[in-house]
Amino acid sequence: MADERIVSPGNDSGGDRDGHLRPQSLSDYVGQESVKERLNIFIQAALARRDALDHVLLYGPPGLGKTTLAHIIANELGVDIRFTSGPAIDRPGDLASILTNLEDREVLFIDEIHRLSRPVEEVLYPAMEDFALDLILGKGPGARSVRLDLPHFTLIGATTRAGMLTAPLRDRFGVITHLDFYSAQDLTRIVRRSAHVLGVEVAEDAAYEIARRSRGTPRIANRLLRRLRDYAEVRGDGIVSLLVAMEGLQLLEVDPQGLDAVDRRILLAIVERYGGGPVGLETLAAGVGEEAGTIEDVYEPYLLQQGYLQRTPRGRILASRGYQMLGLPLPTTQSTWTQEHFEPEDPL
Ligand SMILES: Nc1ncnc2c1ncn2[C@@H]1O[C@H](COP(=O)(O)OP(=O)(O)O)[C@@H](O)[C@H]1O
Ligand SMILES: [Mg+2]
Repeated sequence: MADERIVSPGNDSGGDRDGHLRPQSLSDYVGQESVKERLNIFIQAALARRDALDHVLLYGPPGLGKTTLAHIIANELGVDIRFTSGPAIDRPGDLASILTNLEDREVLFIDEIHRLSRPVEEVLYPAMEDFALDLILGKGPGARSVRLDLPHFTLIGATTRAGMLTAPLRDRFGVITHLDFYSAQDLTRIVRRSAHVLGVEVAEDAAYEIARRSRGTPRIANRLLRRLRDYAEVRGDGIVSLLVAMEGLQLLEVDPQGLDAVDRRILLAIVERYGGGPVGLETLAAGVGEEAGTIEDVYEPYLLQQGYLQRTPRGRILASRGYQMLGLPLPTTQSTWTQEHFEPEDPL
């Protein structure tokens, strides 16, 4: 139990066990109000025109509901959704066969779309723009190009790294939507909803405590709820009271701020090994024993959002809130960074 990662770098877009916790309609999707409002308008408009919805790019840290939202969009449109992911499409021909097998107005979901290879991506450009597939027949001087019409489909791309998308690909999405971390209030609603689906009794204050410690992330809230259900069943009477939640969260090494062991390792390493920073991402990753990409995609966004960490052109530094959180005195030597020194946090 203790070694189970609370923050998982993995992606569970395939047959995940959270499947039955997934809301099925926009009205069941908690929070992200402005995202829902905009999507709802575009969906209604597409339905009224009996046309395919424009291509949608969803980006944001893992576990915030990108895959869930893709399902919901297809549900609201009343069409089927086909799933694939960037790394799963090896050759241009693989994508061509997926595209030619779509029906009119269907949704094609490509997870981790930033990981498409260039040749595959190039198949996507005319497909997205003109609903066409350019095929080269034959070889050498006798080769000729033919254009095949494709059904009018909707591509939904999901990525944790919008900054890694090429400009031509990004430009072909009509709707670009960023998902933000959830408030404790929204996460409380998600915990209550999931508790109801799982048939576990969770006290009101316990639901809030779980929500507060879920790093703004629904997937983590659901995972903590499951583990606390186990804890309550084995150590108690099956009811997740505030006391059970507090004890269980301690056992799971989720601290009162909701940070897990890796979060704390990252923050501590910056102070203990690199004098508070700045330290480059690769160096930090080596010091912590995690992949740089995992730190960047999974851990850092929340630490930045909470103000524990700051990004500067010369690397990461521990921010004053980080020192407070670790119970350390503020260094007197640390250079003060003003806002214009920061890299833009949002690539789009
Ligand atoms: N807005 C939401 N309302 C309710 N549950 C949500 C919401 N967003 C995500 N979830 C839950 O969190 C889990 C993770 O969401 P997912 O869509 O897989 O995230 P992502 O694809 O962004 O990594 C889902 O199984 C779902 O149950
Ligand atoms: Mg996903």
